[in-house]
Amino acid sequence: MSVLSGKKILLGITAGIAAYKTASLVRLFIKLGAEVQVIMTPKSKDFITPLTLSTLSKNPVHSTFYDKDEENELWNNHVDLGLWADLILIAPATCNTLSKMCNGVCDNLLLATYLSAKCPVYFAPAMDLDMYIHPSTVNSLEKLQSFGNIMIPVTSGELASGLVGEGRMAEPEDIVSFIEKDILNKLPLKGKKLLLTAGPTYEAIDPVRFIGNHSSGKMGFAIAKAAANLGAEVILISGPTNQIVNHSFIKRIDVQSGEQMYTEAHKYFSTSDIAILSAAVADYKPKNVATQKIKKNDATIEIELEKTKDILASLGLIKDHQFLVGFALETNNEIENATSKLHRKNLDMIVLNSLQDKGAGFATNTNKITIIDKDLNIKPFDLKSKAEVAQDIIKEIIIKLF
Ligand code: CTP
Repeated sequence: MSVLSGKKILLGITAGIAAYKTASLVRLFIKLGAEVQVIMTPKSKDFITPLTLSTLSKNPVHSTFYDKDEENELWNNHVDLGLWADLILIAPATCNTLSKMCNGVCDNLLLATYLSAKCPVYFAPAMDLDMYIHPSTVNSLEKLQSFGNIMIPVTSGELASGLVGEGRMAEPEDIVSFIEKDILNKLPLKGKKLLLTAGPTYEAIDPVRFIGNHSSGKMGFAIAKAAANLGAEVILISGPTNQIVNHSFIKRIDVQSGEQMYTEAHKYFSTSDIAILSAAVADYKPKNVATQKIKKNDATIEIELEKTKDILASLGLIKDHQFLVGFALETNNEIENATSKLHRKNLDMIVLNSLQDKGAGFATNTNKITIIDKDLNIKPFDLKSKAEVAQDIIKEIIIKLF
């Protein structure tokens, strides 16, 4: 999955011959799952039609402060457009537009939107080689980057004028991969390795029966996604669940029993930076597993149970640099019990779910958590979707790590 999936991209097109390439650019963004809106400068319409771009982006294309042809002359709110965008790309960016951007000129919708935007702005210059090396252009490019805008370098080759040299706009595929790489490099968890356990465990009684629990794995999988979206390389050790994960940063390892989860967790712990243990590991397992299916010959049977290994506590004993996070599901004396678990298992942070709270716990799509850190700061959160709760947990870890 691309980091551009789900991103809101505002493409600004200015009047250069490379504008014809923006049709491919829009298609590539859409194919990667981004949402695209297009603003054209009035003159850029001489190079590519708004109809082409609105068809490909599946959105109306804007180029003026209000749409004269519309019955109600709707105002195109540049502030709203700027705030809507997760990123702005100005491609091609002509000398004229670059110079105006440097000086705060806003005589068209694109420039006004650029000035209102709070998101990252990428620009892909395109011009003839002499224009490109002119000191005023060099000055514009430097100044724009000093404002925090990100330049997508031009390439060298045959130009529309017939001259050969630097000034060609980067190819659409290269623009897309430049932006993807840039976003990835700036993600807060880039390069961090996260170990995560999720779901229930099944403890075998005989070849067909087991002791398990109602954990759905939803919370753990949501945490895996939230962390991977922020650049972490996730090892997700999952008990039996029907959750699906499809993210290039998540490696899923399926296990059945607590013993298997313990082995896998210990395999990856030493190389992890963060470990979050959200699995509902069975506390007890049958002492002896029958090799054949147990027949129902007796009116009652007894199964002797023994404790499973506590994975979290065992990692707490050996941790050195890792940030270790556990979960606590409590029904009474919640803060007290969770805090004692935090100390007992040598954790850096514990996520408390109280079964007293409606909408919290197993199998639901929502959760209500309280985060307690090792300095005993207690932070309660509202009832939220598990995806939002996962983001809150990852955000708290980032705040504590950096
Ligand atoms: N955990 C674990 N391995 C186990 C049991 C629990 O890694 N065998 C982890 C869970 O993933 C969770 C945390 O420990 O992060 C909380 O487990 P819980 O069973 O609630 O805590 P206990 O210390 O076992 O306390 P109690 O059962 O008395 O509430």
